[in-house]
Amino acid sequence: MSHPTIESILQENRLFHPPADFVAKARINSLEAYNALYERAKADPAAFWGELAQQELEWFQPWDQVLDWQPPNAKWFVNGKINITYNCLDRHLKTWRKNKAALIWEGEPGDSRTLTYAQLHREVCQFANVLKQLGVKKGDRVGIYMPMIPEAAIAMLACARLGAPHSVVFGGFSAEALRDRLIDAQAKLVVTADGGWRKDAIVPLKDQVDKALAHQAVPSVENVLVVQRTQQPVTMVPGRDHWWHDLQKGASADCPAEPMDSEDLLFILYTSGSTGKPKGVVHTTAGYNLYTHITTQWVFDLQDTDVYWCTADVGWITGHSYIVYGPLSNGATTLMYEGAPRASNPGCFWDVIEKYGVTIFYTAPTAIRAFIKMGEHLPRARNLSSLRLLGTVGEPINPEAWMWYYRVIGGERCPIVDTWWQTETGGHMITSLPGAIPMKPGSATKPLPGILADVVDLEGNPVGLNEGGYLVIRHPWPGMMRTVYGDPDRFRRTYWEHIPPRDGQYFYFAGDGARKDEDGYFWVMGRVDDVINVSGHRLGTMEIESALVSHPAVAEAAVVGKPDEIKGEEIVAFVILEGSATPSDALQQELKQHVVNEIGALARPAEIRFTDALPKTRSGKIMRRLLRSLAAGQEVSGDTSTLEDRSVLDKLRQGA
Ligand code: WT7
Repeated sequence: MSHPTIESILQENRLFHPPADFVAKARINSLEAYNALYERAKADPAAFWGELAQQELEWFQPWDQVLDWQPPNAKWFVNGKINITYNCLDRHLKTWRKNKAALIWEGEPGDSRTLTYAQLHREVCQFANVLKQLGVKKGDRVGIYMPMIPEAAIAMLACARLGAPHSVVFGGFSAEALRDRLIDAQAKLVVTADGGWRKDAIVPLKDQVDKALAHQAVPSVENVLVVQRTQQPVTMVPGRDHWWHDLQKGASADCPAEPMDSEDLLFILYTSGSTGKPKGVVHTTAGYNLYTHITTQWVFDLQDTDVYWCTADVGWITGHSYIVYGPLSNGATTLMYEGAPRASNPGCFWDVIEKYGVTIFYTAPTAIRAFIKMGEHLPRARNLSSLRLLGTVGEPINPEAWMWYYRVIGGERCPIVDTWWQTETGGHMITSLPGAIPMKPGSATKPLPGILADVVDLEGNPVGLNEGGYLVIRHPWPGMMRTVYGDPDRFRRTYWEHIPPRDGQYFYFAGDGARKDEDGYFWVMGRVDDVINVSGHRLGTMEIESALVSHPAVAEAAVVGKPDEIKGEEIVAFVILEGSATPSDALQQELKQHVVNEIGALARPAEIRFTDALPKTRSGKIMRRLLRSLAAGQEVSGDTSTLEDRSVLDKLRQGA
């Protein structure tokens, strides 16, 4: 082979079947049913998606053509007219769901609020009128920089109702990051709050907005709307800044949803490239609506009795697709929680599950590893018997973390959906269907119907069974990103030319390494940028980390390559120990040997460094790039603006 792929060395053979009483009530309830759907979608994608679009959504005007594919540009449901908020709100008002809880919200200090579909609809209409009053028109971009409060969802939906694309910037980002994103989107208005609660402290959001906008840095912004959340003092600039509650009070609740073209821009969401300027990922209206709607229904097996909780922040795609749009489009009850596990209440997630009788719980591996470290006694002290389904997203989950989640949180009764997808894909791509696909810990299992996923080498040739390679998608899907905002060239280069198209076959390049096993299960091995090359063997990070985490003393691990004259690179492992374990030379030796026993001498770490914390992005992903510099004894360079806690780097340096 002319280009190196990635080697897989981890063996994981456990198989878990969906529990019988789950299957009995599931929407898609057998492997045969899944296979039939998959084959139907593959044989005629346009018919498959067209039928779903007709059945599942309400349209103001039908489309002429399901898919217009001029690679790499896809148009879905050409000339259709639709509004996603009509599907998320208005249509439910015509049914018994009118008075069903749409949004349950719990604030960090313990305050709470529930909005029915009728109430949420009213708030959204009023706020859309507030935006209109301030001159926001269809096509104008609106920045949203908010804590996790209902107004964040209301603001997003109000924008979508008018056809004003939103650009949500995660409330943990700095003023500089906010400014860059507002400039790139040329936002006309910003919605924010005085502050938000985060780990018993106030995040001063309005102050950050003031900094971002200082000295006319973002001339496009004309108005700022401020929700009063924490009551902390803020400066209101006359003429520019307005209190949400002042304007919302008097606003009319009559605001029909704007008929949008299928391909009108719905939102921009920035994703940090590993280097360089953040990319404005563009999602459009109809395809995104259908894709998030149907994946929420399939993957979470949504039933009307569910209380569904996704712990992401609305500042990430997970919050967009699986707190707001997907659940509401299905008429579900979606729970939003402002808080995070913190010293004063490390068990707060379990409190929320017990308090509201949460049935579906969707979180990230980074959170699960933190729960493991905090100890089983916390979830054990709460009644979690309402849970029937668990999910994870964001990173590969180490099999032992999966086992813990399955056993301690799910009581061995709840299937786990390990959902592989990206900001760019809009919705889930590879994941088990909880009533249909047997689970293997650490594998996202199989692609959803309509998703032609594959593992190939750099020339686009499929690699062999269990051989590592590059994860690609061979056919467009409705939820796919349409472009990089303002930079179609970057879109083409980053995603569609990495593996050169041939014979009209285009490959969407996800940037992840993966392998496919004999049952057609996908195993994501980590980002290809993080691959470690030891003596010519290209190893993904996930497998070595999973081997470390399978040792009882280890809570979390991150491995990186360090340049080595002989081997090319050697493996350096940063390890966080379980609460009860203590660092020692003997333990270092033991862990190295443990990796050798688990996956072979090739993966033996040259160094083990114990640490209390790892550098992570604000969405919880380990920033291996920074660890790589540290391991090599170099200054950390490049962008660190997405780093959650800068002090972690200093601690790691001192420990070195
Ligand atoms: C990258 C996308 C998808 C919303 C949250 C993150 C990694 C995500 C999984 C999973 C293995 C996963 C991939 C992917 N990833 N989910 N279940 N198994 N890897 O969105 O920030 O756009 O990140 O997250 O590396 O490419 P994102």
